[in-house]
Amino acid sequence: MVLSLRRLSAGYGAKTVISEVSLALDPGQILALLGHNGAGKTTTLKAIMGLLRPSAGETLFDGKRIDRLGVAERVALGLRLLPEGRGIFPDLSVAENLDVVGARNVGPGAMFDTAAVYQLFPVLRERQGTRAGSMSGGQQQMLALSLAILGTPRCLMLDEPSIGLAPNLVSRMFQQVREVCKSHAMTAVLVEQNVAAAMQIADRVVIMNNGQIVFDGDPERARASNFWHYF
Ligand SMILES: Nc1ncnc2c1ncn2[C@@H]1O[C@H](COP(=O)(O)OP(=O)(O)OP(=O)(O)O)[C@@H](O)[C@H]1O
Ligand SMILES: [Mg+2]
Repeated sequence: MVLSLRRLSAGYGAKTVISEVSLALDPGQILALLGHNGAGKTTTLKAIMGLLRPSAGETLFDGKRIDRLGVAERVALGLRLLPEGRGIFPDLSVAENLDVVGARNVGPGAMFDTAAVYQLFPVLRERQGTRAGSMSGGQQQMLALSLAILGTPRCLMLDEPSIGLAPNLVSRMFQQVREVCKSHAMTAVLVEQNVAAAMQIADRVVIMNNGQIVFDGDPERARASNFWHYF
């Protein structure tokens, strides 16, 4: 297991938002984490990343407790989050964005350095001198994804990466995410409102409702179940 949550609860102040969430993810597994607005998906990702202190439960990475680790230490282990909205520096050029994050996350023998990212998304190489915030939404999202994978990611969490992108770009980008995950045994947690696109690349589907997991199974079973009821 790369990542395990054991009865994890978290919230904001006195308010509990997710309660007793348990999950265990294998290397290379792609999980679609679905649920309506306010279900607790982003809160779950924040708790895993260490941006939010859980009120109860355990988080394990490679079988070791990481509950007391800060965000930077979790990044160093290979946990990565592409946040809701675009996780880029809009006023820096594409190359500068990659330099800033690469300086922290790319060490010797890293899985993805700037050259590897340019190979994955050639358009970013062409645009390396362009101010990131002036690129199209799709190009900005490719850059955000690139920043998230720089270094040696082991578990990539993507919070609604398809927002604002054209459907054909979404399916192309998701296929690339799948190929990267499968070829590098990288686990992905994909939070999506675009259920159809997420289900196309997912090995497993988890549905949250009111801060709790109400369905956990493969996409086939998800399609056959009455889980649409939650949307
Ligand atoms: N910073 C915050 N402070 C207080 N409450 C918050 C905060 N962020 C989220 N919440 C509350 O926690 C609940 C879950 O929010 P969360 O962002 O995890 O949902 P989500 O499943 O990601 O929804 P969406 O699909 O809209 O992004 C909501 O009721 C929300 O109002
Ligand atoms: Mg959210």
